[in-house]
Amino acid sequence: MLCLGIETSCDDTSLALVADAEILGVETWSQNDLHALFGGVVPELASREHAKNIGGLFDRLLERTGVRAEDIELVSPARGPGLLGSLLVGVAFAKAFALGSGVRFIGINHLHAHVFAAGLKNRLSLPALALLVSGGHTLLYRVEGPDKFTVLGKSSDDAAGEAFDKAGKMLGLPYPAGRHIDRLAQDGVVQAGLFPRPHTGKDNLDFSFSGLKTAMWLHVSRHPELRASFDVQNGELSLPQNRQTRQCLADTCASYRQAVVDCLCLRVEQTLSRRENADMQSIILAGGVAANSLLRLSVGRIAAERGLECNVPPLELCADNGAMIAYLGLLLADMGYEHGLGMRAVPRGTPVPQDMLRSRQGGYCSKKEAQMVGLPDGKTIL
Ligand code: KG4
Ligand code: ZN
Repeated sequence: MLCLGIETSCDDTSLALVADAEILGVETWSQNDLHALFGGVVPELASREHAKNIGGLFDRLLERTGVRAEDIELVSPARGPGLLGSLLVGVAFAKAFALGSGVRFIGINHLHAHVFAAGLKNRLSLPALALLVSGGHTLLYRVEGPDKFTVLGKSSDDAAGEAFDKAGKMLGLPYPAGRHIDRLAQDGVVQAGLFPRPHTGKDNLDFSFSGLKTAMWLHVSRHPELRASFDVQNGELSLPQNRQTRQCLADTCASYRQAVVDCLCLRVEQTLSRRENADMQSIILAGGVAANSLLRLSVGRIAAERGLECNVPPLELCADNGAMIAYLGLLLADMGYEHGLGMRAVPRGTPVPQDMLRSRQGGYCSKKEAQMVGLPDGKTIL
């Protein structure tokens, strides 16, 4: 089956064609340069950019892959979570395509798609413990299938990516700052005690990063000379001139990165140590922060020590992309799922595949209504 996947949940417009687990092509328009001017994503500008670019990206995708629009058999947009205006652009485009061509339509949970992105390269052994770390979310999942995710832990405040981005802003680094901190950290030495490991003493599997952010704020207030400067006009990043100060900046980045990674890895180890998780077959590391070099190494080490497989998507599939959306669409289509065109975007919370079904009468109904009329376990009745 050939699926068109559409990702517009935040600031990347990305369309992909995927057949089974083979990526035929991906076209992505990143809005990073635009939002870097403001130090973060401006929702209204993001949705306007999606609307401006989505049609052209679709044409280019067809042209580059040589696929004809009439060969597409399934269309899957990200339906949430994300920015509502941005999601609506992708969802409306997908609905128009489905209506015009009569193909199947399945809205996709963006977070679940991040997790299954790892499956585009390797067969995933389930149940798996998935650590999803992105700009908006930090989640630990037990994953039993494309439609079966259980949240084991989550961040009670900032997401891990946000912790990197906000710390980077304080250090004068451009948005999104995660990869800049990661790169500067390569030349730094971790300073013990510089940053705390917030929340790690608590008897649950949740995360908290706001204390780390505050610690960075205090550190930069005491050492304003550490700040880099970024020229938004020509996109040039200037590090402090003084060699010693530059080294202190690198040490700060290394210490901060270590603190974030320690907080994440501690929860992964605690989760795996619980008796109810003894059947886990693998660890999946996913989301934009999975591009972090230290995190990849550290999670790989935990998996190796426990004899578990470790699946991390290649770098280009860690960030938001249409291929991961298309791939989860294909997996759910294989299981018999389908949405009606009444499906809504879900900016907050967890959209699940079962929550809007085409009813026997051809109309659309909610999961609750489906249960009332006796449609079997959340799957589509055509
Ligand atoms: O999943 P993603 O592409 O978008 C969201 O859905 O949020 O994740 C973007 C996040 C940003 O916060 C960015 O700073 C972070 O991923 N990121 C990194 C690295 N590369 C991207 N964080 C740490 N180290 C990296 N190498
Ligand atoms: Zn994402």
